[in-house]
Amino acid sequence: MAADDKIKLNQPRPVHDSISEMAEIVLPNDANPLNALLGGRLMHWIDLAGAMAAHRHSRQWVVTASIDHLDFLVPVRVGDLVILRSSVNRAFRTSMEVGVKVWVENYREEEKRHVSSAYLTFVAIDATGNRVPVPPVIPETADEKRRYEDAGRRREIRSAESARRTQVRG
Ligand SMILES: CC(C)(COP(=O)(O)OP(=O)(O)OC[C@H]1O[C@@H](n2cnc3c(N)ncnc32)[C@H](O)[C@@H]1OP(=O)(O)O)[C@@H](O)C(=O)NCCC(=O)NCCS
Repeated sequence: MAADDKIKLNQPRPVHDSISEMAEIVLPNDANPLNALLGGRLMHWIDLAGAMAAHRHSRQWVVTASIDHLDFLVPVRVGDLVILRSSVNRAFRTSMEVGVKVWVENYREEEKRHVSSAYLTFVAIDATGNRVPVPPVIPETADEKRRYEDAGRRREIRSAESARRTQVRG
């Protein structure tokens, strides 16, 4: 890659460059015998939606390093429409925190409910699997600035928890 292209690749990018949306209709194969969406299937979709935002921000291949705590707030049924929206909250050196918010839309009743929110960390890698730096994020709106600040605090919490787990393992 030419030096100029490398510089362009690492230019700071606004959050809106990474905003991604994904939609899925829940089919019987996504559900348990009670016709409710499987948690694992939703986790898969969250991972994909998160990766889209990380790819768009970094313009690199990415791997999922971690997913923070996940709650499933309302059940989702076969036939429902699931909407996932993602964007990069903040980039660090080679990693990025991505937020994914999930809603379920019942189009017959014109109802939209919040199902889950997740924070994922993706790490950018090159074709040989080496970690590569990612460009900084430019938060522009009030919400983006809040998420940017919160992402810094969450990173500290993650790293403290990781150190604690290492200590417990001995
Ligand atoms: C994620 C991975 C690349 C990190 O490698 P590593 O040798 O631990 O790298 P480092 O400790 O140098 O960390 C690299 C970056 O990842 C971040 N990171 C590493 N582990 C992390 C975790 N569990 N959660 C959040 N961030 C993490 C670090 O903070 C660092 O970020 P920075 O460069 O922005 O400061 C490596 O563990 C890996 O390849 N894991 C498998 C990923 C995968 O296959 N995912 C798909 C699911 S199977």
